[in-house]
Amino acid sequence: MTPSERIVQLRAELHAHNRKYYTEDTPTVSDTEFDFLLKELEALEADNPEMFDPNSPTQRVGGEVTKRFASVTHSAPMQSLANTYSHEELDAFFDRVEEALPQELVQYVCELKYDGVAVNLRYDAGKLTQAVTRGDGTQGDDITVNVRTIATIPLLLRGDFPPVLEVRGEVFLPFASFEAINEDRAAQDLDLFMNPRNAASGSLKLQDSSEVAKRGLDFMPYFALGASAWNSHRESLEKLKAWGFKVPLQRTGFLAVCDHRVEARAFLTRWEIERDTLPFAIDGAVIKVNWVAQQRRLGSTAKAPRWAIAYKFKALAAESVLEKVMYQVGRTGAITPVAQLTPVLLAGTVVKRASLHNQDIIQKLDLHEGDTVMVEKGGEIIPKITTVLLEKRGAHAVPVLFLLNCPECQTPLVRKEGEAQHYCPNVLGCPPQISGRLIHFIGRRAMDLDGLGSETMALLVEKGLVHRPSDLYNLSMDEWASLPNFKEKSIANALSALQRSKTVPFERVLFALGIRHVGETVAKKMARHWGSMEALMQADRTALIEADEVGEVIAEAVLRFFQDPLQLEEIHRLRQAGLQMTVVRQEGASRTLEGMTFVVSGVFVGYSRDAIKESIELHGGRNVGSVSAKVSYVVAGEGMGPSKKAKAEAMGVKVLNEEEFNRLIAMER
Ligand code: IVH
Repeated sequence: MTPSERIVQLRAELHAHNRKYYTEDTPTVSDTEFDFLLKELEALEADNPEMFDPNSPTQRVGGEVTKRFASVTHSAPMQSLANTYSHEELDAFFDRVEEALPQELVQYVCELKYDGVAVNLRYDAGKLTQAVTRGDGTQGDDITVNVRTIATIPLLLRGDFPPVLEVRGEVFLPFASFEAINEDRAAQDLDLFMNPRNAASGSLKLQDSSEVAKRGLDFMPYFALGASAWNSHRESLEKLKAWGFKVPLQRTGFLAVCDHRVEARAFLTRWEIERDTLPFAIDGAVIKVNWVAQQRRLGSTAKAPRWAIAYKFKALAAESVLEKVMYQVGRTGAITPVAQLTPVLLAGTVVKRASLHNQDIIQKLDLHEGDTVMVEKGGEIIPKITTVLLEKRGAHAVPVLFLLNCPECQTPLVRKEGEAQHYCPNVLGCPPQISGRLIHFIGRRAMDLDGLGSETMALLVEKGLVHRPSDLYNLSMDEWASLPNFKEKSIANALSALQRSKTVPFERVLFALGIRHVGETVAKKMARHWGSMEALMQADRTALIEADEVGEVIAEAVLRFFQDPLQLEEIHRLRQAGLQMTVVRQEGASRTLEGMTFVVSGVFVGYSRDAIKESIELHGGRNVGSVSAKVSYVVAGEGMGPSKKAKAEAMGVKVLNEEEFNRLIAMER
């Protein structure tokens, strides 16, 4: 391949990775791999200047502006950082800085490189007025409503703040919150987030800020605009701390001010070893020249300041051997290959398996049976195979060939055009698909058929009595009685549970159907938006995407689901069985207060305290116990505590009296 061919190839590949990372939130390569490809391209472009292209991935900071949020132009571009993985390049950075500032003492500030999403916060007169993502560096998305829910971001500054302040920092998700979210998603059969960064980024793009509030996001500032108000980076952090931010100065070891590069190197080494002990993910450390006057003299390139550099930690990797490839069949029939490895110790845990995702990944790696492979663990849950050590491959090794037939029911697999995943098309006959769907259907968050349970399901499937959820409603007494240990009492229990399930609200019926990507929240939003199965089934792509929380991926899955004749028949049968297919509105209910949260306090004239809370819920609002910045209104009756009132005022939360509340619910939305 000639250098120019390689340049073209690398550009296409990096554009695709950028899109996956920034726009789709589903990266398929690790940061390390991405950075190495980018560096290769940078080097080739430097040697072949005639190949210059302003649209090359090397010419941009990264990212694309996504839809749905208003686009905002940054007051000053959000720059990226030069980065390196090597101590030699780091030394070259120190040399450049020190040579440009001869005869001067240079101090370096070392910080952790938080692995999250960069955000610019703007404060006017001490109030948070706007939060914008980095986007492409020039323009980003206005995500103010979502950012307001992050507890460590002050909504009001304290003390002696400037009239306008812009603060840049990283929104990230601590490991504990990340794990809780994924557990919840697993329980709901939703795709898991690959790592805390994707989860943070996905959370910031949610349409419903009350959902964002539950995610447990955190924030660390790393740069403030307005350098004339301080002499050093460290001083700017002190100021941020005084104004109410949580800054790394408050945590011993998270920041070091170094008089010499040797100390800076010690900081890097320490955290490269101890990164596992942190409660959040970092992907390196950042070294910054401390004095603002020196930063100014060093200046910036088009993309990044010359006074700072990111030192990135190498992903943790280990060598292992591929023992075999196993295949899992999901409830949607999707086939997932999983590599079974010789157990190996990696970052404190024993690794035995690595996800392979699909056939393309196996082919790209050119996996052969018995291959020696490198496994890498980033922030991901399951480690992955990054390379095959070809020199260790035996002469007669055979390539891993993807299955042709379903490992469970032997039906030939299909792969639809444009899709990476193989599916078992035997929707009604493949045991793990049948029981997977049934177990989802009877779950507590779905139809809540607690009298039945997964063992009974397995028995019913095994006996061939049940193939799909609707069959449960059509079993005869004799069929129930044919199950071992099913006497009158258990039959009566099962029947009454099935009877009760006919009153389960439509939103949960919709969730119980098990449409891909349609979890509890999305089902609820869709049910409320369309009001009935009929209306939802009529919706086209444009209509679907217009609804809250529904993006391209969900819209596609919903359309596909309703195009499947088997699913249409199943919906028909469930309707016949008597399940709820429309939203039943309570008398007097409305959506006037949808998306709002309330704190009720004091004594009222026209309502008891409980009645006013019920009225809030009836109109779609939510009650919470204590005042926080996330609360939309405090409804204050006679004798509301003065401290609550003061708190509401301090947080800028509006206080309504009874009459104002009545006027609010009278406004139909
Ligand atoms: S300083 C002009 N400091 O890394 C100042 N960035 O690769 C530029 N990041 O966009 C940024 N931790 O999202 C800085 N302590 C830290 C950081 C940090 C994480 C991120 C940030 C930036 C990216 C550059």
